[in-house]
Amino acid sequence: MEKDEDMHQTPTRRLRRRITAAVAATAAAGLAAAGAMLFAGNASAAETLGASAAESGRYFGAAIAPNFLGEEGYANTLNAEFNSIVAENAMKWDATEPSPGQFNFTGGDQLVAYAEDHGMAVRGHTLVWHAQQPTWAQGLQGQALHDAMTTHIAGVAGHYQGKISSWDVVNEAFEWDGSRRQSNLQIQLGDKWIEDAFRAADAADPDARLCYNDYGTDGVNAKSDAIYDMVVDFQARGVPIDCVGFQTHLGSDSDLGSYQQNLQRFADLGVDVEITELDVGGSGSAQANVFRTVTEACLAVDRCTGITVWGITDKYSWRGEETPLLFDANYQKKEAYEAVLDALNAG
Ligand code: G3I
Repeated sequence: MEKDEDMHQTPTRRLRRRITAAVAATAAAGLAAAGAMLFAGNASAAETLGASAAESGRYFGAAIAPNFLGEEGYANTLNAEFNSIVAENAMKWDATEPSPGQFNFTGGDQLVAYAEDHGMAVRGHTLVWHAQQPTWAQGLQGQALHDAMTTHIAGVAGHYQGKISSWDVVNEAFEWDGSRRQSNLQIQLGDKWIEDAFRAADAADPDARLCYNDYGTDGVNAKSDAIYDMVVDFQARGVPIDCVGFQTHLGSDSDLGSYQQNLQRFADLGVDVEITELDVGGSGSAQANVFRTVTEACLAVDRCTGITVWGITDKYSWRGEETPLLFDANYQKKEAYEAVLDALNAG
């Protein structure tokens, strides 16, 4: 294992990151306010998800696959509605380092270039996860796995330095009961692997905001409690962490009774919260109401910086026949789309 880094490292880089983020948020909010003042006489609700989110200094994003960008409906809907993107798969370990030390950034570079050409922010997903590891990494043990993990993080976060608004540094490391997932990373490296990943990401890109990302955290529960405790511990020991991602994969009957309260308690710790993979299985008003509730919760929490839906069209959703997104297979807006835009404009 690497020696403990200086746990009292100067906060200079983190402080700069927070100042950068605060300036950016203030600028966005200021521009929105100025815009509102200038056109107060003709104030009209924003007509797209991204434009409406930007009015409160937030983003509205979508998970993207580069191979669909050549499809007219896909690209037109992306360009019109979203001001942030994340790679659904192209920046994961199996895609970016298929062989040890041999990096392949083709897909991620295509998405970053597209985002830059279209004025969109880019979320990074994900540096370290138990799934979609390349085969060569899955069999490593002890220090060899630790070195492979930190080398991977340095390679990918270093390659995209300055281009990523926030990284999902670690994805899905906890079980429903709040215990650690017994992945190869946990078994081989022990509890310390998560903080080592965050420190490596901070070293590789001091300007990106560093997030922990997970699902099943759609309220106050054993899993979100464990993540909350981890954030408190990281902050106490100077481990760099700036945000928590709430994937928010839901159904039309999901219980969201403590959803907003959960976001707020993390925000009260002084980290940002991001809704990172929103989709809601179902249809009609039941689906629309869940999307609306999540959107309203984000708008109610100042440190909720934005929402990303996990895809543009039902046609390509990982959830297949559950039709969980805002646009149908023909890129037509669904009732859920109108509910989200309504909530964004009301916010
Ligand atoms: O790239 C191969 C391709 O070469 C091969 O021909 C094809 C058929 O076997 O498979 C392709 O890999 C697929 C990959 O997506 C890229 O398309 C995998 O089989 C498939 O399992 C993988 O699914 C992705 C899944 O993560 C993997 O766990 C989904 O698209 C993606 O939406 C999903 O996203 C995750 C987030 O990253 C984390 N949170 C949960 C979310 C849903 O599982």
